[in-house]
Amino acid sequence: MINSIADNFIIYGDYVRSKPFGSGHINDTRLVTFNEDGREVNYIFRKINKNVFKNPEIVVSNTLLVTEHIRTKLEQQNENDILRKVVALIQAKDGKYFYVDENDGYWSVLRFIEDSYTVDFVETTEQAYQAAKAFGEFTKQLSDIDVSGIKETIPNYHNLKSRLKTFDDAVQIDAAKRVNRVTKEINAVDKNRNLQEEIAILLNNGIIPIRIVHNDTKINNVMLDDKTGKGLAVIDLDTVMPGTVLFDFGDMIRSSTSPVEEDKADYEEVKMRINIFEAIVQGYLSELKDVLTKSEIENLVYGAEVIVYEQAVRFLTDYILGDVYYGIAYEDHNLVRAKNQFALLDSIQEQKEEMEKIVKKYI
Ligand SMILES: Nc1ncnc2c1ncn2[C@@H]1O[C@H](COP(=O)(O)OP(=O)(O)OP(=O)(O)O)[C@@H](O)[C@H]1O
Ligand SMILES: [Mg+2]
Repeated sequence: MINSIADNFIIYGDYVRSKPFGSGHINDTRLVTFNEDGREVNYIFRKINKNVFKNPEIVVSNTLLVTEHIRTKLEQQNENDILRKVVALIQAKDGKYFYVDENDGYWSVLRFIEDSYTVDFVETTEQAYQAAKAFGEFTKQLSDIDVSGIKETIPNYHNLKSRLKTFDDAVQIDAAKRVNRVTKEINAVDKNRNLQEEIAILLNNGIIPIRIVHNDTKINNVMLDDKTGKGLAVIDLDTVMPGTVLFDFGDMIRSSTSPVEEDKADYEEVKMRINIFEAIVQGYLSELKDVLTKSEIENLVYGAEVIVYEQAVRFLTDYILGDVYYGIAYEDHNLVRAKNQFALLDSIQEQKEEMEKIVKKYI
């Protein structure tokens, strides 16, 4: 199967083997090995998830524009090791950068970034620093890309207003008859609705500029160098599209600062770890402090609040709808996720002043 997909791409050598790769749960990712004149060469084959990305061709065309832009920059800067510093799409034999299989599956192939690894969970401040620096550099490299060519791969991705509308409708309809179990959480949603109003003002009035950002800034989307542990390249570019750094930064804080995974019920343990926060700020601003506007920098912490709130609302909405979007392993899984995110939001709100102080330290 993989063999016949590979036939459609410009790959030299003979197919050797293929295995599932990474811990990603959105796309189908495989490590595929070829023999090129006695030497083993690896590629990543990815089947784009069409439930999430309704228009996979946009995903590929965005990735191509973004990676070519970054590659050109790296060349101009006379960087060495460029093959490990930016993702490279392999061309298909028909000139495109994807192949559609007989089941309408969209495949793209990437050059494998050798001698590198990803971590799924932040253990050290150094990892947090390196990942944030890599995302910062990514945004810096893209700060002068022609925005008009890049399209939205998921419309309304971080549109909190529409997320809240979906939530309100779900509560109204109460299809799964669960609303009476979540009175406390619904109150928490209501208590924070001002976050939506404030972010809308910042975005709609152009106070926060639209940039090409990553939109999925989890630590395992950064390849780290085997030898040095330094950030090499940012991967998983499916959600790269116009957006704001507030949300890229916010999602780093959301996904990396809690010592407890987002679906664990140890709410007491859920905390925004301030040392990890500081490492993220330091890494991110080491690349971006001269690129971002004053209002962007001033609203980074606010971005974290918004993103954590948004995620809590999305989990709670899915619970109320009867678990239609997020996969669940047990009945209350989505409720646990929502409570976990509300606990993280509380922790962020308690430490806001301290967080703002830290941001000021690095500008
Ligand atoms: N070009 C590459 N070179 C080396 N390893 C890669 C490359 N692309 C992906 N990987 C590995 O495969 C894993 C999954 O890849 P990726 O993040 O693109 O998939 P995904 O399904 O979209 O992930 P997720 O669901 O976590 O967002 C990565 O964490 C990384 O370890
Ligand atoms: Mg990923």
